[in-house]
Amino acid sequence: MDFFDSEENVNQYIKMAEGFDGRELIKILKNHLPPGKTVLELGMGPGTDLDLLAGDFQVSGSDRSEIFVNRYLNQHPGADVRLLDAVTIATDDSFNCIYSNKVLHHLTRNELIQSIERQSEVLNPGGLVMHSFWRGDKEEIIEGMRFRYYLEQQLDKLFAQYFKILDIQQYTEMEAGDSVYLLGRILSHK
Ligand SMILES: C[S@@+](CC[C@H](N)C(=O)[O-])C[C@H]1O[C@@H](n2cnc3c(N)ncnc32)[C@H](O)[C@@H]1O
Repeated sequence: MDFFDSEENVNQYIKMAEGFDGRELIKILKNHLPPGKTVLELGMGPGTDLDLLAGDFQVSGSDRSEIFVNRYLNQHPGADVRLLDAVTIATDDSFNCIYSNKVLHHLTRNELIQSIERQSEVLNPGGLVMHSFWRGDKEEIIEGMRFRYYLEQQLDKLFAQYFKILDIQQYTEMEAGDSVYLLGRILSHK
């Protein structure tokens, strides 16, 4: 069972994440993605960023945890929210942007490579990715959850096969420079 497949862990996460959101990332994204475009969020969790993104874009939320998906649907009946794994992204739909905030660090490096390739398939021509990670150069397992940290140059290398890197910057979530975001535009449509 995954960490976020427990009601108790989901409740604990929601409490811990109170006061944190991706508004700074979304502000940067808005400089590159025109209003009204479609955005798929991977690993939406409680949906805080999905609500912010919905202010400007046509959003689809997703998560691998049924608990998060069902809770959001109960609170927002009719919302476009799906059960999706960020590795396989099993959808026939395509999007102008794929967004995630502190999600892809849960994947192994190989799963991240698989996800990046799949993202390039799911995006429309000219599509964007905006993803945040915890910054560093290590991997640890905490309460059964993987945390794979990345430095800017490692992310650049991983995404550059499919994406032109528009921006990679470190930023602060809880402690100075503890996070990094990557904004990229698809190189060509396969
Ligand atoms: C640290 S939480 C971040 C949630 C949300 N993005 C936020 O900023 O509050 C990580 C989220 O990623 C989801 N997740 C983890 N692995 C995933 C995967 N392989 N595919 C999709 N979602 C995943 C978890 O269920 C959880 O909702």
